Amino acid sequence: MLSFQESILGWYDQNKRDLPWRNATSPYFIWISEVILQQTRVEQGMPFYHRFVERFPNVNALATAQENEVLAVWKGLGYYSRARKLHHAAKIIVENSPTFPDSFNSLIKLPGIGQYTAAAIASIAFNEPVPALDGNAYRIMSRVFNIADNVASAKAQKQFIRLANEWISQARPGDFNQALMDLGSTVCTPRQPDCSKCPLNFGCEARALNNFHERPVKTSKKPPQNRFLMFDFLVNNDNLGLKKMEEGNIWKNLYLFPFREFASEQLLSEETARWERLGGETLPAGIHALSHQKIHYRTRIMPVENPEKTGYSKLKWCSHEELEGTAIPAVATKIINQWNNKRPATI
Ligand code: ADE
Repeated sequence: MLSFQESILGWYDQNKRDLPWRNATSPYFIWISEVILQQTRVEQGMPFYHRFVERFPNVNALATAQENEVLAVWKGLGYYSRARKLHHAAKIIVENSPTFPDSFNSLIKLPGIGQYTAAAIASIAFNEPVPALDGNAYRIMSRVFNIADNVASAKAQKQFIRLANEWISQARPGDFNQALMDLGSTVCTPRQPDCSKCPLNFGCEARALNNFHERPVKTSKKPPQNRFLMFDFLVNNDNLGLKKMEEGNIWKNLYLFPFREFASEQLLSEETARWERLGGETLPAGIHALSHQKIHYRTRIMPVENPEKTGYSKLKWCSHEELEGTAIPAVATKIINQWNNKRPATI
């Protein structure tokens, strides 16, 4: 009988997805793809990967770019801290070394590169046999070995690392890691795994016990923090007033409508009602979900006659074209879409 390792690699050779970074020879491309895929699905991330490497084709190009530009190219991917850290890491790489860091231990020292990403890059780009354990790998191993401990527990983590180190191919570690990613994304999926297509079905304990839907075991996540914001949608002719967000803000260095924060939904509603009683216009209420925060927002529309003569002169006043090249967070895009739905699109 084939070993798990042979089965996984054999399956990968027949079924691997044709992804652009898989033909890449430069570790730079692999690094960019792995950072994009940290929080974005493959299909969604692909156009952004092309756009990013076209604009910044090597680590020097990225290191010498302005942060604003890097953030603007990242626009649409969200979780901009990834882009900030990429940019920061590119500067460190260019300053410190004539070559790209070429081992797990050197990669993991860089901003934005954790255990998983360092292992993925080291194995794919440099053939270092380190397992890259992501949610896919945890799910597959939890099922094959019927691991009943919470995946995040120290006990389960130890077991995953031990098993993965036993499993990983010394000859083809990058392919092995990517095989688990593909198998988890396409066959051993969370809800409806297709066990008939799985190269590990012959030895999978969860399949034999028919408890695969109970594996992996996860503790429920901490509920996100609720926040209640009132945005000021400032319009001067066709230009919108945006404020550069400061340090300590989840949207740091991005451009967003100025906002006020309220302690509860009720206070936000009261403020909205007060504005409407005065004859002010608003956009429909919205909710924007981030990984750790749930933003409940209202938006008041505020026409501004003379930005220069008011307190709004410090804002960045953006035309439609300027918005294209400006790093704005997803919530701002949503609000602009709401505005465009409300009236003939001008912005
Ligand atoms: N997810 C993260 N990295 C990946 C890769 N290299 N291939 C497929 N899916 C991935």
